Amino acid sequence: MNKYDSEIVAGILTQNGYRQVFRSEEADILLVNTCSVREHAETRALGRADNLSVYKKQHPGRQIGVLGCMVQNLGEKILAEHPAVDFVVAPDSYRHLPQILKQNLRHSRGEFSVRAFLDDSGSNELYDDVYPKRVEGISAWIAVMRGCNNFCAYCIVPYVRGRERSRPAEHVVDEVKKLVDEGFVEVTLLGQNVNSYNDGWHDFPDLLEMVAQVEGLLRVRFATSHPKDLSEKLVRTIASHPKICRHIHLPVQSGSTRILKAMNRGYTRETYLRKVDLIRRCIPDVGLTTDIIVGFPGETQEDFEATKSLVKEVEYDGAFIFKYSPRPHTPAARMKETLTEEEKIQRLQELNAIQKEISLRKNRAHIGQTAEILIEGPSKRSLKDAMGRLENNKIVILPNTKLRPGALISVRITEVRGVTLFGEQIDGKTAPKTDADEKEVPVPVTDKTPLVNEME
Ligand code: 5AD
Ligand code: SF4
Repeated sequence: MNKYDSEIVAGILTQNGYRQVFRSEEADILLVNTCSVREHAETRALGRADNLSVYKKQHPGRQIGVLGCMVQNLGEKILAEHPAVDFVVAPDSYRHLPQILKQNLRHSRGEFSVRAFLDDSGSNELYDDVYPKRVEGISAWIAVMRGCNNFCAYCIVPYVRGRERSRPAEHVVDEVKKLVDEGFVEVTLLGQNVNSYNDGWHDFPDLLEMVAQVEGLLRVRFATSHPKDLSEKLVRTIASHPKICRHIHLPVQSGSTRILKAMNRGYTRETYLRKVDLIRRCIPDVGLTTDIIVGFPGETQEDFEATKSLVKEVEYDGAFIFKYSPRPHTPAARMKETLTEEEKIQRLQELNAIQKEISLRKNRAHIGQTAEILIEGPSKRSLKDAMGRLENNKIVILPNTKLRPGALISVRITEVRGVTLFGEQIDGKTAPKTDADEKEVPVPVTDKTPLVNEME
């Protein structure tokens, strides 16, 4: 969602005559988009903003702005404690950016006039009429709803992103048609809580179905689903429509009903497992991934054992596992922390090791299978190889194959290394192996690939 918001900002600025450059030293305006979900993300973002101050020394007319969720909470503090930062803009105030920049440019010698924009959080902003400036490619993100009403006890999102609101389904479909005209063949529908989408006329399965019917579009994905809002209708819609990818990211957060209750998640271990069962019965080859928090206040060894056993029982294809990080304003931040940092790290590592083994085993089970992949472009590892994705979001490398990005092709999976599968095109020539393939190489991963490691 954050990356998509950067595309919204780039859209607003290009529509106002600004040009995007890709090297910091070429920019007159440097913007840092921030995430508040864990403290570590905040520290890193501010570190980045401070580092950018070297460019201001070279050219004092340059402006540095901090955007995003951190501003909602900490805008004034950022301005007070980070002198290199000239202005801050919260997530619902990006429309003011051209105005801020214009006013500031009139002031020379570094003392800018507009410094903070913090006050639009009740505005129900949807950026429905803003066309994002997307990175060229075959796959586009499109936010269909913003905000969250769930107030999970640990989560800052409802405080910094405001209440849930949904774009009209017709507008989403029109944007998807435009994207297809521009050459995109895959879209990912985004929302903090995407399956509670409702525009007053359509629910999320309706929207998925409408988007999947857009001619020329090959694949539809979505993220992120809340287990309590995952309906049978949604599962049946995914199962029945070939263009809707058979991948569900379904954050469980904990395997202990006691902790789930303390987290205010709105489901128990048993009801979650029943949903997984429903999904697997309707969509047997589904890719299932999840998010888990370890070390929530009060998490006992028994609770942690329950999470371990749930992970073993569900056998996810991948999981993002996080250490609990107390966030301001949240109910959990007022609870007493019961685990030391070392204990949290220990639990994180233990769970990562369990998931890694499962991921590897599930990846190996693909060997010999045939499936369709959508080619995204050359592999990051070697321009001679092509990279594509299975419906379940796993990356497949086709050695020594140059295929057009956007091509949907049949492959046979031949080999697995780490989180990466290797394959050969069916009905095409079998790609001969090269020496390079035998070497131990870093596993190519992208932002969209769930890893078994903590992302940060
Ligand atoms: N501490 C650790 N992880 C968190 N997440 C959200 N809030 C916190 C927090 N305070 C994780 C959840 C969520 C993912 C996006 O980030 O697992 O699903
Ligand atoms: Fe945060 Fe819970 Fe909303 Fe997800 S559903 S954004 S974890 S409050």
